[in-house]
Amino acid sequence: MSLPTTVLGTNGPTVGIQGLGCMGMSEFYGPTDAAEALATLDSALELGVTLFDTADVYGSGANEELIGPFVRANRDQVVLATKFGIERRADDISYRGFNNDPAYVRTAVDASLRRLGVDVIDVYYMHRRDPAVPLADSVGAMAELVRAGKVRHLGLSEVTGDELREAYAVHPIAALQSEWSIFSRDVERTAVPAAAELGVAFVPYSPLGRGFLTGAFTAAEELSKDDYRRHHPQFSGPNAARNAALVAPIQKIAAGRGVSAAQVALAWVQQRAEVHGLTVVPIPGTRKRTRLAENTAAATLRLTTEELAELEPIAAQVAGNRYADMTFTSAGRE
Ligand SMILES: NC(=O)c1ccc[n+]([C@@H]2O[C@H](COP(=O)([O-])OP(=O)(O)OC[C@H]3O[C@@H](n4cnc5c(N)ncnc54)[C@H](OP(=O)(O)O)[C@@H]3O)[C@@H](O)[C@H]2O)c1
Repeated sequence: MSLPTTVLGTNGPTVGIQGLGCMGMSEFYGPTDAAEALATLDSALELGVTLFDTADVYGSGANEELIGPFVRANRDQVVLATKFGIERRADDISYRGFNNDPAYVRTAVDASLRRLGVDVIDVYYMHRRDPAVPLADSVGAMAELVRAGKVRHLGLSEVTGDELREAYAVHPIAALQSEWSIFSRDVERTAVPAAAELGVAFVPYSPLGRGFLTGAFTAAEELSKDDYRRHHPQFSGPNAARNAALVAPIQKIAAGRGVSAAQVALAWVQQRAEVHGLTVVPIPGTRKRTRLAENTAAATLRLTTEELAELEPIAAQVAGNRYADMTFTSAGRE
């Protein structure tokens, strides 16, 4: 069965109601297998996934280069989303800087178009807000890219409700992409209500809690040495055991329904659409066809009111922040 579709924003593209996060195919979540990753992209399209999510920063350009041939081969069906705004340094693997300068926006888009090998990006996101640059200037530069035909629609990531309104006054925003899951619900304070009010679609990233909600791992030590999640506050030290216990209700519901914990986590976030009155298109990340099939099957799974109530108290009990440095998030500016 192909996924149901929805529209991103008031005049945005039509997409399957679940997208695919491609980040882990190049970096952050342990060893990658390019052949299986590419097969996963093909399989996604067959299942009705049309929104493919990457960023210039994933693998320092490698992720855009990896998915480029797939995008070009299926250009009419793929809704291509990429992002600018986080800078890295070749000499310091842990360095992350924000850059929203209009001149940088113009350079970054050309670099992404070149790596992807396409002449237009469907959804171009500002990956992180740099408070040093007036938002109107950055979004103004993004709007120029729409007028120049390099970008079709605009998106923002990790902005507050007020920032979303300010940006929207400069140019319509099709999608807001921020972390939203059973564990991470700070976006419900201001970003979600603003998106609902403006008709902006919400694209929850890390809807599986970076894999933790699936039960695939229960502590940082189980991950490979180069896995970025080893430094995640929620998966390290005493927080890991406390948070692993919070996954139990998800697993209990999954067992009762004969589905996986991942599917319950995805159904929960998909059902936020009705709870908050907005379009929701989660982008779970996977590099494997088997998991993709499992995840897309969850797009039409419906949790009962009782099941939703069991999951409701979890977020408030999570130990540790969702980033080691919360200036990386909208919550850090609320
Ligand atoms: N805007 C932003 O700042 C931002 C930040 C982070 C991520 N993102 C985007 O959001 C996408 C998704 O987020 P994410 O990848 O961080 O986290 P996620 O979707 O919550 O979880 C991905 C992890 O879960 C595993 N997984 C996937 N399906 C599974 C299943 N059915 N059962 C067990 N494990 C499963 C994946 O492993 P396998 O790959 O081995 O299946 C991977 O390790 C990213 O790919 C990226 O495009 C955006």
